[in-house]
Amino acid sequence: MSTAHGRPQAGAGAAASGLARNGDSLVGAEDGCRAPAEAALGPPAELLPMTPEWIERVVAVEQSAYSHPWSRRHFEDTLAAGYHARLLVGGETLMGYYVAMKGVDEVHLLNLTVAPAHQGQGWGRLLLEAMDTWARSVGAQTAWLEVRVSNEPALRLYERHGYRRVGLRRAYYPAARGVREDAVVMCCSLEEPPGCRR
Ligand SMILES: CC(C)(COP(=O)(O)OP(=O)(O)OC[C@H]1O[C@@H](n2cnc3c(N)ncnc32)[C@H](O)[C@@H]1OP(=O)(O)O)[C@@H](O)C(=O)NCCC(=O)NCCS
Repeated sequence: MSTAHGRPQAGAGAAASGLARNGDSLVGAEDGCRAPAEAALGPPAELLPMTPEWIERVVAVEQSAYSHPWSRRHFEDTLAAGYHARLLVGGETLMGYYVAMKGVDEVHLLNLTVAPAHQGQGWGRLLLEAMDTWARSVGAQTAWLEVRVSNEPALRLYERHGYRRVGLRRAYYPAARGVREDAVVMCCSLEEPPGCRR
């Protein structure tokens, strides 16, 4: 993945959308809840449950965002297993999504993706905050995830959001030319609000 980081113009993306942040809470982050029109300076965006009719579009975004994407089967299994899966939709456009799994008092973030055309505009951070909000609502105290050691944008996003590097899984991911890539294991306490974790 490229580390070139073209930042958006002020006023673009999540901060100017219907899912804009309001203090530390998300406006319109409830499932299926469209934000007030007056808050929407950019295209309104909403967070919707991932359902089977979206899978085609999810797979298309997945293939555009990863060198080793999840297959259609992964997403079908996700829905069959009842994992928590949410879409970020702006108008008719699927802009991103995340998938998380609940454990006893923890959650595991399995997939967090922003479509390439919408990256670098704050949507990844917003999806992570939405995941946090859900995780707290189901009583989780800790969030866990794995990320490729080479995935600098994702590592930065997670670290800025309060995730800490706590381990390494050797040869966890498939990579180019049949070699494998290590995963950084990260975790984050959900007991403090995001602002206190930075
Ligand atoms: C990683 C990903 C989810 C980030 O989403 P995004 O919407 O582009 O990120 P945001 O605009 O919300 O940026 C949030 C933070 O991420 C980091 N970041 C985002 N893009 C970056 C880039 N290209 N290079 C370096 N850091 C980056 C920055 O720390 C940024 O904080 P800042 O605005 O204070 O600089 C997105 O790039 C993506 O979907 N990539 C492909 C799939 C993937 O790798 N998913 C993660 C798997 S673990």
